[in-house]
Amino acid sequence: MTIGLLTGGGDCPGLNAVIRAVTKTAIIKYGIEVIGFIDGFKGLVENNYIQLDLRKVSGIGHTGGTILGTTNRDNPFNFITITGGKQQASDQSDLAIRNMKNLGLDGLIVIGGDGSLNIAYKFFQKGVNIVGVPKTIDNDLSATDVTFGFNTAVNTASEALDKLHTTAESHHRVMILEVMGRYAGWIALHAGISGGADVILIPEIPYKIDAIINKIAQRFRQGKKFSIIVVAEGAHPEGGEMVVQSFVPTSHDPVRLGGIGHKVAQEIEENFNHIETRVTVLGHLQRGGGPIPYDRILATRYGVAAVEAFMERKFGSMVSLQGNDIVTVDLQEAIKEIRLVPQDGPLVQAARSIGISFGDK
Ligand code: F6P
Repeated sequence: MTIGLLTGGGDCPGLNAVIRAVTKTAIIKYGIEVIGFIDGFKGLVENNYIQLDLRKVSGIGHTGGTILGTTNRDNPFNFITITGGKQQASDQSDLAIRNMKNLGLDGLIVIGGDGSLNIAYKFFQKGVNIVGVPKTIDNDLSATDVTFGFNTAVNTASEALDKLHTTAESHHRVMILEVMGRYAGWIALHAGISGGADVILIPEIPYKIDAIINKIAQRFRQGKKFSIIVVAEGAHPEGGEMVVQSFVPTSHDPVRLGGIGHKVAQEIEENFNHIETRVTVLGHLQRGGGPIPYDRILATRYGVAAVEAFMERKFGSMVSLQGNDIVTVDLQEAIKEIRLVPQDGPLVQAARSIGISFGDK
């Protein structure tokens, strides 16, 4: 037997730990082979792959990135090729399937977020044996309690807030930290609570600039001459839009966000000329670097469970964390909707109880 493996979409701490666990379980426990495609679905179309063996996955469990490479641009169902300097999009999914057949693959384990798992599901509908592994620092996949990589990203954002705190206090400034999170504000919410933010702005709770200004002014009156704001890149004002940086039409995740931190800073400065506001955009630091131990363990459990699901022929499924257990869920269900922060959920309530503002009232 041979299993194909690929990492798709934006990278995330813990990918290598999954690759390692899949390869080791397949070889050590079941004596079967693993082939890793280079740069996600692109490698599947271009038949670019490596044989994964115990030596290749040795010593990578704690490392960041993915030894297989990834891309969030290439979609075999809408694949871009350049002929005579011109970009052309075409459906190359049959070619990808032919490549898998020629390699004698029994199926494919796809480690991906929303976009990549949608592609994986389309391959499943075309008869490919698929098992999915949920990955994204955004933690916005609905069928699992946690995606690996999220807690590492929260750790990075929380450490950044700790550092911003000391300089904010010294200079009596408003410090804004812009973090990732396109449609879901999980990173901002967790890091904001852990890092002692005064205001947390998330896509699920549209903000009013007046509410943010009131919060800063109230702190000022109480003698707190600095404030910390954490804002998810997808946050937006009530009745307003997200700040889009660019649009990649061929990508399965076409919207690239960024800039909301500066927008909020400008609005604050227009109201307070005596308080300086500075912005830090944390960006890809949240995706880079090695995973924290929690994510190494979760990624390992997911990798082992993905091979088990494969051996049990649970195709069209995704491995998922539910409570303390790793289970399999229906892939179609898993990609149906993304998991948003409940506006009145326990974490939002806890944050409000300790005086954190969401900029809405
Ligand atoms: O989905 C994960 C994510 O990190 C988002 O939070 C972010 O908007 C996006 O990927 C950024 O992707 P890129 O690699 O194109 O910058």
